[in-house]
Amino acid sequence: MTGQPVSGVERVVRDDEIIVSKTDTKGRITYCNDTFMRLAGYSEPELMGQPHSIVRHPAMPRCAFKLVWDTIEAGKEVFAYVINRSKNGDHYWVFAHITPDLDEAGKIIGYHSFRRSVDRKAIAAVEPLYAALLAEEARHSDSKAGMNAAFQMLVSLLADKGISYDQFVLGL
Ligand SMILES: Cc1cc2nc3c(=O)[nH]c(=O)nc-3n(C[C@H](O)[C@H](O)[C@H](O)COP(=O)(O)O)c2cc1C
Repeated sequence: MTGQPVSGVERVVRDDEIIVSKTDTKGRITYCNDTFMRLAGYSEPELMGQPHSIVRHPAMPRCAFKLVWDTIEAGKEVFAYVINRSKNGDHYWVFAHITPDLDEAGKIIGYHSFRRSVDRKAIAAVEPLYAALLAEEARHSDSKAGMNAAFQMLVSLLADKGISYDQFVLGL
C-alpha cells in the first residue's frame, strides 16, 4: 500500500455522532464541525482551505472517488463507505452522504458531507471489495488506466448482482 503512513489504530465514531464538512466546488474544505476535527486530529486552521484529500486513507481505491465526483458534479447526492486517515495515521470508517449545494439559479456552489458511524457487518463487506479495487488499480502502471479498470470492475460486479450502486451501498 502506498501513500501516507498508517498506524493501524481505529478511532471510534460513536453512534450519536455526525461528522460534517463543507467544501468549495474544487473540494477544498470551507467548514468542518468539532467531531470532524477530533476524529481527523487536525485543528480548524490546519483544515480550512485544504483539499479534502487531507484525510484520504491509502486503503481507499481511487475509483470510489471517481464515482463520488462524477455523481456530485452531475448535481446528484451520493452515499459511500469511506475509510479516513487521521493526522497521526489512525483511521476511522464512516458512511458518507455527499450533496451538492446549489444557488438560486441551480448552479453548484460547493458540496457538503454528513457522515455517520458504520457497523462491523458493513465494514466486513466493504473492506475486501476496496482491497480488490485497489489491487486492480495497482496492477496498472498508468494510474488513470488503473482507476478506470477498477471502476469497470465495480460496474461489472454490480451488473452480476443485478443491482445499482445505490441499492448496493444502501443495502449493506
Ligand atoms: C463534500 C466532500 C467531502 C469529501 N469527503 C472526503 C472524505 O471524508 N475522505 C476522503 O478521502 N475524500 C473525501 N472527499 C473526496 C476528496 O475531494 C478527494 O476526491 C479524495 O480524497 C481523493 O483525493 P485524490 O484524488 O487527491 O487522492 C470529499 C469530497 C467532497 C466534495
